[in-house]
Amino acid sequence: DIGAALASAADPGVERATLDDLDEQVAVAHERIEQGRNKGEFGYASLNLLEATDAETIHDAVAPVADAESVITVGIGGSALGAKTITEALAEDPGSHVVLDNVDPEHVRRTLDGLSLADTAINVVSRSGTTAETLANFLVVREAYEDRGVDWTERIVVTTGESGPLRALADQHDLPTLPVPEGVPGRFSALSAVGLVPPAILGIDIEGLLAGGQQAADDLAPSLYDSPAYAYGAMAYALEEAGATVNAVMPYAERLESFGEWFAQLWAESLGKDGRGQTPARALGATDQHSQLQLYRAGHRDKVVTFVRPRERADVSIPDPDHEDLSYLAGTDLGGLIDAEYEATVASLPAADRPALEVEIDRLDAESVGELLYAMEAACVLVGELADVETFTQPAVEWGKNATRALIRGEATDETAVIDERERL
Ligand code: PA5
Repeated sequence: DIGAALASAADPGVERATLDDLDEQVAVAHERIEQGRNKGEFGYASLNLLEATDAETIHDAVAPVADAESVITVGIGGSALGAKTITEALAEDPGSHVVLDNVDPEHVRRTLDGLSLADTAINVVSRSGTTAETLANFLVVREAYEDRGVDWTERIVVTTGESGPLRALADQHDLPTLPVPEGVPGRFSALSAVGLVPPAILGIDIEGLLAGGQQAADDLAPSLYDSPAYAYGAMAYALEEAGATVNAVMPYAERLESFGEWFAQLWAESLGKDGRGQTPARALGATDQHSQLQLYRAGHRDKVVTFVRPRERADVSIPDPDHEDLSYLAGTDLGGLIDAEYEATVASLPAADRPALEVEIDRLDAESVGELLYAMEAACVLVGELADVETFTQPAVEWGKNATRALIRGEATDETAVIDERERL
């Protein structure tokens, strides 16, 4: 809903005339994006991912572990958040997918202690095959399986590039492997083997996810007025230009909480360059109405709130109250209540001259989630074009990865020189 950001005197806000001017830039950006897609250029190839992803190949690779009751993903960042978002939104049992991304030793130990490893498939994902956190956690997980007498080589699927230590380990142990897609940075790879192995093992409709993504791809058009993905991207860009340097994503569905985490990576890592980029903030409706909303409605005028909700959801009726003061709840249900909270909160921002954007999906099913993920990726690519930043690189992230490896190996590099200098001070 573009209206809420245009409404009255929202500050930061966007005039309709500004948006009309911006639409010409959207048409130019769309042409550039299509050219990149047609040539399969690095990064732009992300928006062709659906054609490159073969659901059958993924089903074949996971067949040996399809009996698993749960999955443990060993990966980090773009190699974990897509699968986490999808399974949290769509798995029948939300606890059936565990992500081991961090290397907090107590967390790793507690996570492994809480799992029945004989019933758990291992999904190791690393595009580069060199990420320290992923490789270290993989070795720890492997040993935990051995300690409990479970043959980890029979319970594993590896998704990685053509070379690197993880590929070498997979070859050494003859493990089933899936390739990472060519020309697609990790954070854009949710709708490939990188994000689809855990859903496939847990019986989630991966074909539906891909079909939903295709729907969003088919909806891309050279005008923000004709393309929901570009409408969102153009508004986010225009609001950033107007001063909304923070984008708080607030889904009204517990099952979309990790979507906020996925979005945060996509937006921050792609657009945080050259002194630009909205800072993504994470909130959850209706819970954060009782905390962060105060700031969003009355704090610095540097924010836009992006509301996300499914139009339909399974409902729970609220039992008739036996107290007069609660009679307003009689005959209602939790879905009605959360929708009322949503409507009230969305309206409360323009009423305080603050911008709000709405993103609605039909329901929490595979098609809608696939559509949402693809549309946000396309929106992000558009913002990158409008802002003229290198959307598909992540030099600051690589700096940290290189520094970590060099520190652990005791090597002297440009990165460790900076660390030594800080310690000297
Ligand atoms: O999006 C990115 O580039 C990062 O978040 C990577 O996905 C993350 O660092 C993990 O890298 P890799 O898949 O090489 O292990």
